[in-house]
Amino acid sequence: MKTLHDARQYLEVCTHDILILGTGLAGLRAALEIARKSGDSVNMGLLSKVQIQRPHSVCAEGGSAAVLREDEGDSLDLHAWDTVKGSDFLADQDVVDRFVEACPQEILLLDHWGMPWSRREDGRILQRPFGGHTFNRATMAADKTGFFEVQTLYDTLMKYRNYSRYDEFFATSILLTDDGDFAGLAGIDMVRGKFIVFRAKAMIIATGGFGTLYGFTTYSQTVTGDGHMLAYKAGLNLEDPEFLQFHPTGLVPSGILMTEACRGEGGYLKNNKGERFMERYAPQRMELGPRDIISRAEMTELLEDRGFDGPKGYSYLHLDLTHLGADRINSKLPLIREVCMKFNGIDPITDSIPIRPVAHYSMGGIEGDINGATSLPGVWVAGEAACHSLHGANRLGTNSTTECLVWGGIVGGEAASYLADNPPFAELPQDRVDDELNRLFVEMLNRKGSEDQYGIRQELRNAMDKHVGVYRDGNGLKTGLAQVRELKDRYREITVADKGFIYNSNLINALETENLLDLAEAAVTAALAREESRGAHARTDFPDRDDEKWLNHTLVRHSPEGPLLSYKPVKITKWKPVERKY
Ligand code: FUM
Repeated sequence: MKTLHDARQYLEVCTHDILILGTGLAGLRAALEIARKSGDSVNMGLLSKVQIQRPHSVCAEGGSAAVLREDEGDSLDLHAWDTVKGSDFLADQDVVDRFVEACPQEILLLDHWGMPWSRREDGRILQRPFGGHTFNRATMAADKTGFFEVQTLYDTLMKYRNYSRYDEFFATSILLTDDGDFAGLAGIDMVRGKFIVFRAKAMIIATGGFGTLYGFTTYSQTVTGDGHMLAYKAGLNLEDPEFLQFHPTGLVPSGILMTEACRGEGGYLKNNKGERFMERYAPQRMELGPRDIISRAEMTELLEDRGFDGPKGYSYLHLDLTHLGADRINSKLPLIREVCMKFNGIDPITDSIPIRPVAHYSMGGIEGDINGATSLPGVWVAGEAACHSLHGANRLGTNSTTECLVWGGIVGGEAASYLADNPPFAELPQDRVDDELNRLFVEMLNRKGSEDQYGIRQELRNAMDKHVGVYRDGNGLKTGLAQVRELKDRYREITVADKGFIYNSNLINALETENLLDLAEAAVTAALAREESRGAHARTDFPDRDDEKWLNHTLVRHSPEGPLLSYKPVKITKWKPVERKY
């Protein structure tokens, strides 16, 4: 492709009232809410980077949190307190209250839509223990909860007709008018090799997290923070990106999630002396402490040589389920057993599972208010892509899938009300459409530099694994940031070898890598500035939480010179921060 004039033959324009970008749990739930509220009067475009039934949400295993047993002793206040304490007091407490109140109805809604929840002998929905929760509230479908939730939402959506699907569409930029109003979205139809401009009145971003910044991760390789970067480059804030959660049990060496439900069902964590080491770190809750505390404990055990040497340099600890017995493992943890057998050639009925902390979840995200609204009118955010200030510095397991359902429902409702007033379409900014087409199909494809884009992505992951892990410090973060910036410089010299249009995975990989580099710069800049330890951000040079200075959310804004930081206070309604003991 030589010129913009040549590239224009690949341009198509599509029009929808609203775009839903991302079709995981949050996106599908939002689409259903709009369909339920608006019937045929709203025309939706459902845009997915993958096939509609293959979002990363299908990888959620352990369950969805909700208070369903007030008659047996659970309460909304208890769920709220567990969440606030788990967050290391960085959660906004009004948001937490709204969340816990809405969770039960989402579980029951899915039940009505045909979700195959696991059941108790008495026929009621079964719930199991999970880390940091003081009551059994992980609502589950064995250990394949996310898979069945996605299927249930998708099956239910099939009843409606007011949407068009665009699978394998890679979004590249939000289109704004000269006045800064939302006008639509641009990107690449990977299947047909077209540049598509979507004209729309509104949009919901539900594109998931960004944990593939790390090499050792539970994330699907498709999760590259694309939604975050669209928003960031359009002038929206990222909030709290320094809080990346390390789940305590990633299978070594693949990183596949060994659900916390293994410990909810009674599994032990052991070091190379056979000790249940959590006794030293969380004596009351043991293996069911919150993730930040268990991951820190595991790293301490590994750094003090009480682990095992593993492949690819990954030292590990043991997750021991052998005392649970075959019946329990087969009925409650069938996926875990299958994965261990297929990937590691071990059987958890008789063998311990090699695990270590693994990059798992982004507590931060695109700043959204309690209704999921961003600072750009007509644009909402939900699910892991969002930061509604619910999880603070450390999310409790099973709060995320329910969050997707709750805020999917909220933003769907908000968007339906907005569209009911019949707002006008904004004029598409033709110069920006041209700029984007030129960037993607001319400038990127004409690159002939000597740098290897795949090598750059690998080096980025190595730097994040090494310098921005469970424990970090100022020197390591400075080194990490310098490496990210050097990689950004080298990225300008990459080549895109494939010059074609259909399924140009070479081009898509390059665009994803650019997103990951910008995200890493934002996250590490925020981590370097936060001189305290809180939740998932554990600094060895500032080992204590500092509420006086840091009871604040980080906001990161894009500028051509690099990320700009500012802060906003945490909303405290009921509970002042206290020491966390488990
Ligand atoms: O361990 C798990 O099943 C993960 C659950 C979660 O991240 O909420």
